[in-house]
Amino acid sequence: MGQDILSVGLEGMKGHIVRVEANVRSDKDQFVIVGLPDASIKESKERVLSCLHALDVDLDMKKVTVHLSPADKRKTGTGYDAAMLVAVLKEVMKEPIPIDSSTCILASLSLDGRLESFHGLIPAIQQAVLLGFKRVLLPPVDVRVLGQSLTAELIPLADVQQLLDCLRGQMTFEMDVPKVLVKEEEAVDLAYLPDFSTVRGHKEAKRALEIAAAGGHHVLMTGPPGCGKSMLADTFHTILPDLRNEEMLEVYSIYHLAKERRGFSSRPPYRSPHHSASAISLIGGGTYPKPGEISLAHRGVLFLDELGEFSRKTLDMLRQPMESGEVTISRVRQSVTYPATFTLLAATNPCPCGYFGSNERYCSCSPQQVRTYQLKASGPLLDRLDFVLSLTSVGLKQEEHSERSEVIRKRTEQAYQLQWSRYKGGWLNGTVPGSLLIEECGLTKEHTEQLESICFHEKWSNRTQVKLIRIARTIADLAGSATITDAAIEEAVHWKRLASLHHETNRSTTI
Ligand SMILES: Nc1ncnc2c1ncn2[C@@H]1O[C@H](COP(=O)(O)OP(=O)(O)O)[C@@H](O)[C@H]1O
Ligand SMILES: [Mg+2]
Repeated sequence: MGQDILSVGLEGMKGHIVRVEANVRSDKDQFVIVGLPDASIKESKERVLSCLHALDVDLDMKKVTVHLSPADKRKTGTGYDAAMLVAVLKEVMKEPIPIDSSTCILASLSLDGRLESFHGLIPAIQQAVLLGFKRVLLPPVDVRVLGQSLTAELIPLADVQQLLDCLRGQMTFEMDVPKVLVKEEEAVDLAYLPDFSTVRGHKEAKRALEIAAAGGHHVLMTGPPGCGKSMLADTFHTILPDLRNEEMLEVYSIYHLAKERRGFSSRPPYRSPHHSASAISLIGGGTYPKPGEISLAHRGVLFLDELGEFSRKTLDMLRQPMESGEVTISRVRQSVTYPATFTLLAATNPCPCGYFGSNERYCSCSPQQVRTYQLKASGPLLDRLDFVLSLTSVGLKQEEHSERSEVIRKRTEQAYQLQWSRYKGGWLNGTVPGSLLIEECGLTKEHTEQLESICFHEKWSNRTQVKLIRIARTIADLAGSATITDAAIEEAVHWKRLASLHHETNRSTTI
């Protein structure tokens, strides 16, 4: 018994180690693969046999059994080809092939022994690094973009011979210019994107959006048509900081699995699905579950315009991912988990005609209509929203000073830095587990008492209390303060009052 050959399997975006072992004995001509392989893996048999033939390995009257363990997990895709080939070679070759447990092999095969790329390679690389592999052996793909900050060495290899040489530590060959796997960063030039400063007025809303961007908090905007809700949402992502390298790879991997186009960009994703979108396209799903819009918005923004037009069932399904930062899709065949940590921006009119509470026009809706509409619009997500902003139309007059996205981004970047160094795991204040937040946020005893008494008077729940701490922490981070300040608490309470004012109107309507 020697060391097993290791590869990586994926369940959604979660990777697990797959051990590949082979057994060869003299019996009859036969080649079987066991360990719940799907049709594409069963076809690996032909590719592996053909490569063995090309390598002049004689398997006459030999029974070869290849086992992929854990045996009870379904395996899919062609990425185990090369690992299976090495496992068989290890059994039949006289010379031992040294394998160490920090190396994994991810490659498909051609019939003549070249290593080939396969669908799911990028997420598999990303997960291999997360699983702690130190060396990842790959088909000839361009790893320069991927490999920059990864803790593992990514080694692209042209064919089986190079693979064996590499395992034996005889890497004397020079790689040709590798094929391009991912395009060099598609330059998303921020200069051409709409800028936050082009939105006139809405000073309060802009401040709220800056806090939301800095801490990953969820926002609802209501206001009459044409007041600038969609415009604020469209420019919101320009004030988000760049993604870090490992996040870039993670986001790219999700797009790769969903077969959606995305350059290897450091800008956070921005998704704005139409309200007619089905629950599956929003949440993810299908026979072989694919990531939905909420996962494509991972580490970025999900904008739901005309929130009231989305079906209630769909909005209900958003609640759990908003809390946990990931979504699990269960099907009869398999259950998969995709990451879904996004900042939700939602916009809605206040009533069917759009002018309830406006000073421009009279609202033509009945009180009952207004209530039903508001309830439908924000009801399902009400308790998950941190900010509810009531916007009114502003004049065309350009105010003297309107900050550019670039300037705001500097502040949100600084806030991100503080949060990363505080929580380690890449969490933001909006999503960090409550216990870690309380432990690390630097809230003094006086502040805790002050918050408790405010919540008691306002009849706010414990959840609201934690939300207050989250928002106050972000405000302090934006100001670069290590502790939560009085001003931060005061401002957080102000935002919560605005949100609960909206909640109250909604609640009174249910009677
Ligand atoms: N505050 C604003 N500053 C600049 N332009 C605005 C503002 N509000 C609205 N507009 C203009 O009106 C158009 C419609 O606004 P939009 O954001 O789509 O409104 P809403 O989504 O609230 O119905 C925008 O494309 C923009 O040209
Ligand atoms: Mg709009």
